[in-house]
Amino acid sequence: MHVSHLSLADFRSYARVEVPLDPGVSVFVGPNGQGKTNLVEAIGYLATLASHRVSADAPLVRMGAERAIVRAAVVQGERQQLIELELNPGKANRARINRSSQVRPRDVVGILRTVLFAPEDLALVKGDPGERRRFLDELVTARAPRMAGVRSDYDRVLKQRNTLLKTAAMARRHGGRQLDLSTLDVWDEHLAQVGAEVLAQRLDLVATLRPLTDKAYEQLAPGGGPVTLEYRSAASEAAGGAELGTADRGELFELLRTALGEARKREIERGVTLVGPHRDDLLLKLGELPAKGYASHGESWSYALALRLASYDLLRTEGNEPVLVLDDVFAELDVRRRERLAELVAPGEQVLVTAAVDDDVPGVLAGARYAVSEGVVERV
Ligand SMILES: Nc1ncnc2c1ncn2[C@@H]1O[C@H](COP(=O)(O)OP(=O)(O)O)[C@@H](O)[C@H]1O
Ligand SMILES: [Mg+2]
Repeated sequence: MHVSHLSLADFRSYARVEVPLDPGVSVFVGPNGQGKTNLVEAIGYLATLASHRVSADAPLVRMGAERAIVRAAVVQGERQQLIELELNPGKANRARINRSSQVRPRDVVGILRTVLFAPEDLALVKGDPGERRRFLDELVTARAPRMAGVRSDYDRVLKQRNTLLKTAAMARRHGGRQLDLSTLDVWDEHLAQVGAEVLAQRLDLVATLRPLTDKAYEQLAPGGGPVTLEYRSAASEAAGGAELGTADRGELFELLRTALGEARKREIERGVTLVGPHRDDLLLKLGELPAKGYASHGESWSYALALRLASYDLLRTEGNEPVLVLDDVFAELDVRRRERLAELVAPGEQVLVTAAVDDDVPGVLAGARYAVSEGVVERV
C-alpha cells in the first residue's frame, strides 16, 4: 500500500500543508526543527492512533489551535480510501472514512499500516518493559485490528479493578469497611477473560516474530547473533513459573485466574493489580545474555532495527505491504549498518525517509526528494 496524499491542518508546527506522495522512496531533507518528523508522525498516527514521540494528543495540536486534522489518501491495489482524524485534546477524537462521519477512530485502524523506525526505537532494547509491551500491542493490532477494542476493554477493566483494590487498601490501613471479596471475584473473571485474549495474541506474535528477528539481525550484523525473543509473563511467574508455550485461550484464562488468586493478598496490601499482560515483558536475548544491560550500543541498535525489520516482514507476508517510515535513523548508524538497512528497505512499495543531511541517506534509496523548511514542504 502507499499514501498518495497527506494533508495536515493545525498539526504540530503546520497550520496547513498538502503533500502529494508517490510510491517508492521519498526523502524529506531539511535542517533540524523544520517539521520533517512532524510529517511522518502524522502518518504513524493514522496507522496506530498514537504518536511515536508522545503519549498524549495535546502536543500534536498546533500551539494556540483547538484541534488538529490529519488526512491521508491510502492506495491499496485498485482501491483508494480517504481517512481522516480530528484530534481534540481532552475530548473525544473523531474519525471519517471516505468523508462519512459515522465511524469511531478505531475503525480507521488497519486501513493504513506502517512500520516506523525512529531514534526512539533504541528504548525497545534499553528501556522499560512498557516500551516492549507497546511494541507488541501495536503489532498485534496491525495484524488484527479488532484487538484495538480488546486492548481498550482490558485497560478499562484494569482501571476499575485497581480502583477497587485501592479502596480496599485504604480501608485496610484506616480500618474502614472491608472489601466485599465477591466483587473482586467478578473483576478477576473479567480481567482473566480479556487478559487471556491479549496474552494469546502476544504469544502467537512472539512465536512468529522470533525467527524473523533472528534472520533480520543476521542480515544487519552477520555472525553477531543469534537473537532470541522470550515472553515473560508475570502471571505465569506468580503461578509457579510454568513455561508459556501455549496460546490456548482456555488455559491462559485459567492461568490468569490462578495467578490472580495467588497474588490477591499482596494486591490488597498494595492496592494495585500485580499480574496480567500489563505487567509482562519481552526478554530480548543476544546469544545467552539479555540485550538490556549487556549489549553494546551498536548491538542494541541492530536489535532495535531487527525488531522493526521483522515487523515489516511479518506484516508483508501476512497481508498488505505496510508503508515504511525511517525517521532520522541513518544519522544514528555507522556506515555498514546504514548500507545494510537501506538495501533491506529499498524494495518497499513506499519508503518515507527523513534526514537532516542528504549525504546520510545511502545512494540505494534514490527517489523523490522534498525540502522541508519552516513548515514548507517542497518537492525538489
Ligand atoms: N504543537 C506544536 N505547535 C507548534 N509547533 C510545534 C508543536 N509541536 C512541535 N512544534 C515545533 O515543530 C518543530 C519540530 O519539528 P520536527 O518535525 O520534530 O523537526 P525535524 O525537522 O527536526 O524532524 C519544533 O520547532 C517545534 O517547536
Ligand atoms: Mg526529526
